[in-house]
Amino acid sequence: MTTVPEVRARKGADPLVMVTAYDAPGARVADEAGVDLLLVGDSVAMTVLGYADTLQVTVDDMVHHTAAVARAKPHALIVADLPWLSYHTSRRDAVLNAGRLVRAGAQAVKLEGGSKRVPVIEALVDAEIPVMGHLGLTPQSFHAMGGFKVQGKGVEAARQVIDDAKSLAAAGCFSLVLEGIPTEVARLVTGAVDVPTIGIGAGPACDGQVLVWHDVLGFGGGEYAVAPKFVRRYADLRAAAIEGLASYAADVRSRAFPSDSESYHLRADVAEALI
Ligand code: KIV
Repeated sequence: MTTVPEVRARKGADPLVMVTAYDAPGARVADEAGVDLLLVGDSVAMTVLGYADTLQVTVDDMVHHTAAVARAKPHALIVADLPWLSYHTSRRDAVLNAGRLVRAGAQAVKLEGGSKRVPVIEALVDAEIPVMGHLGLTPQSFHAMGGFKVQGKGVEAARQVIDDAKSLAAAGCFSLVLEGIPTEVARLVTGAVDVPTIGIGAGPACDGQVLVWHDVLGFGGGEYAVAPKFVRRYADLRAAAIEGLASYAADVRSRAFPSDSESYHLRADVAEALI
């Protein structure tokens, strides 16, 4: 089982690979593919639960999905997102909610935001709960940011991201997700902190990369069919699934399924007595 200290020690070494996972089969395939970290992301809101944004996800939802991922017993480190409002009201609420995720099987939690999160991060670390920070484009701040916009584009905004990263690392975060910031800013952040940075839409200079399972494997659809430009799609599971289910439907309708070998039979003497 991958541990938090092992991930922390990967700073500047081989790039870390993280992918989201929301259920046991998804966790199993990612783990068999050899990823280092599984993120039970609050993106479950859009990828699985059909919501329009992450603000709809509750602690109960995250516990449910974290437990499903943990039941796969992956070798990868399990990180679970603290959802919106689960760590904003008080440090006590943050520790109790994070504790629920740990009891569900998470080895670490992730939360969004800069220096203002330092007291909460310190409380979590004090409760022995490892914390991953998340800076830049933070989806839980969707309304405050005015939409999903690349952050840190001006000098002051970029300096703020760098300062926030230093504060989070000093507060005890064992790694930082950098989302939706220019490559140059991500490079400066990565050089400024002694913990691994894991980028998504933050260019190649980070210590690792994270993508959403459904984006990597092409299992989106509906309003999420068009992935952001930072996504590289490595499979088209949606097309494969539609093709497979269409073949199943055709076989049912033509009575080609099930075949004799796919059916159970009575022993000959029982059939004779019965019929
Ligand atoms: O919830 C999520 O999927 C995330 C990643 C985008 C980093 O937080």
